[in-house]
Amino acid sequence: MPESDLLRQLREDTYRTIARPYMLSGPLQGAALRMLVAMSGARHVVEVGTFTGYATLWMAEGLPAGGKIYTIESDAAHAAFAQRYFDQSPLNYRIFPLLGRALEVLQSLDGPFDLAFIDADKGGYEAYYDVLLPRMRLGGLIIADNVLFRGEVLHTAAQQGNTARYMAQFNHKIRNDWRVENVILPIRDGLNVIRKISDGTL
Ligand SMILES: C[S@@+](CC[C@H](N)C(=O)[O-])C[C@H]1O[C@@H](n2cnc3c(N)ncnc32)[C@H](O)[C@@H]1O
Repeated sequence: MPESDLLRQLREDTYRTIARPYMLSGPLQGAALRMLVAMSGARHVVEVGTFTGYATLWMAEGLPAGGKIYTIESDAAHAAFAQRYFDQSPLNYRIFPLLGRALEVLQSLDGPFDLAFIDADKGGYEAYYDVLLPRMRLGGLIIADNVLFRGEVLHTAAQQGNTARYMAQFNHKIRNDWRVENVILPIRDGLNVIRKISDGTL
């Protein structure tokens, strides 16, 4: 499915007017996220890190009628930019933006969620995962972005910067968590697709 005109305008507007526009997911990852939402039959989705709303709108396209996506952003300017585009989308009714720090907002949500997309500050990923996992339905997906961090996760610890180290630690934690199975898809900067296979009781 091609990028819609609205998504193209949003992407171009982001690159023209917003600092660090490369944080936006891009058309390949957007299409992959939409397909993962649709393939998994997700009805309740949460995104951690809205930025300008690009991935939010792609994932909203993958939802069935009655589906909902909550999207969390702490930067008011980013949230306001995204809202201008959500307001122009016929899928706006599926989108519930939440302004605030991700950890506190996630703790205030009950779930259960069918799919979560983690794409905010990299040092927070482990905490977001810990709060999210009990809120996911069995079989639900947590998808974490930038887990290859330009390939730097494969460097030695001494060669890694903070972000690569956070990502390597996060991937290691997931690999060793018996409550989930996972695969890292080398799409863009790496998507760790994590599926909850146990509710944590032995
Ligand atoms: C990589 S961008 C998100 C990109 C977006 N998901 C997309 O695919 O186009 C990360 C966003 O997370 C936000 N953010 C960073 N730390 C956060 C936090 N602790 N709580 C909520 N949002 C945060 C940033 O302001 C930024 O807009």
